[in-house]
Amino acid sequence: MIRRQTLPDRSGHFGPFGGKFVPETVMAALTELEREYAAARRDPTFRRALRSLLRDYAGRPTPLYFAKRLSHRLGVNIYLKREDLLHTGAHKINNTLGQGLLAVRMGKQRLIAETGAGQHGVATATVAALFGLTCEVFMGEEDMQRQALNVVRMRLLGATVTPVTGGTKTLKDATSEAIRNWVTTVRTSHYCIGSVVGPHPYPMLVRDFQSVIGQEARRQILQKTGRLPDLLLACVGGGSNAIGLFHPFRHDRRVEMIGVEAGGSSLTPGHHAATLMKGRPGVLHGANSLLLQDRFGQVLPTESISAGLDYPGVGPEHAYYQLVKRARYVAVSDRRALQGAQLLARTEGILPALEPAHAIGYLAQAAWRLRRGAPIIVGLSGRGDKDVQTLARHLHAADPRHV
Ligand SMILES: Cc1ncc(COP(=O)(O)O)c(C=O)c1O
Repeated sequence: MIRRQTLPDRSGHFGPFGGKFVPETVMAALTELEREYAAARRDPTFRRALRSLLRDYAGRPTPLYFAKRLSHRLGVNIYLKREDLLHTGAHKINNTLGQGLLAVRMGKQRLIAETGAGQHGVATATVAALFGLTCEVFMGEEDMQRQALNVVRMRLLGATVTPVTGGTKTLKDATSEAIRNWVTTVRTSHYCIGSVVGPHPYPMLVRDFQSVIGQEARRQILQKTGRLPDLLLACVGGGSNAIGLFHPFRHDRRVEMIGVEAGGSSLTPGHHAATLMKGRPGVLHGANSLLLQDRFGQVLPTESISAGLDYPGVGPEHAYYQLVKRARYVAVSDRRALQGAQLLARTEGILPALEPAHAIGYLAQAAWRLRRGAPIIVGLSGRGDKDVQTLARHLHAADPRHV
């Protein structure tokens, strides 16, 4: 069971995971960020400013929607936490508003970010425009192609999108490049990391900014049903939407938590991004966590239909939840994620992003073990506009009668 004391500890560790593994130049910036965040979270003016932006600019609270037809189909009561309805279309805006306010507080003039699916890049570009900061987003070339719509959105918002051509040209390489850039611009730039990954204090800070998801969901399910859910289900890339939903329920022993990773085309090495299921401890992007690696410790390439889950690492808090058995992690294949997207579109008229489509794709299996009518909350982290072309291409390949 999870420890009652605060996580992470003072050195930024979640049990054996987490910490700070960075070059000397960045250490001072992390210490500054830690100090500033500690002051900001106690400062009523900061808290008020964030609360009001989340409400009036981003559109919080998001609804907890009872998906009636889907529930009827699967025999359990499914509630969707509608982060897809937020400004810019995904949960990422919760975190970028928080970090944007911190950057302004620290007197930084520039935001740097990495992005996979482009949603974090769009959210960072949005916040940079809102606060009058310049913005550079690093994105793998492969992701720029499959998430072309979001590249256009970032540029329209005034951000520079820098293609990353190394490695697999996806999120891992974009993150490495963003860190490299940060090392040389640390005095003027804030690195706005997009998930609960990276060195301390990022996993804690991003978790805190995303915990609004679970805090609202907890209140809303109690209001709607008078009880807590049997199960929380959310997709896991780096793990920010999942930890945002899970964290406020972590001491509710009866609430089961399942994180859904990208199973890609198969669970053989190199063809998936199921880090919690298949990874081993290792250091990537400044923290010790689980990592997909070969027997020589080289990071393995990953594969997923969804750019946002296509990452060989994972947030250290998830690695810890798995270690202490507070949460369980499963993998869902590309094929089942596509089926999940179609199922939600056809039963509820909601087209999810391919990332949360993985969680929808796992629902039937999850429901099978639960009693009839059991309440489940699914984190619907983003909407599917960005994925329409990918969906059309795959569905057409499977059945040419599709558009
Ligand atoms: C809609 C959506 N959901 C989930 C993710 C995965 O990130 P995380 O695991 O940090 O929530 C992304 C990443 O881009 C995303 O765009």
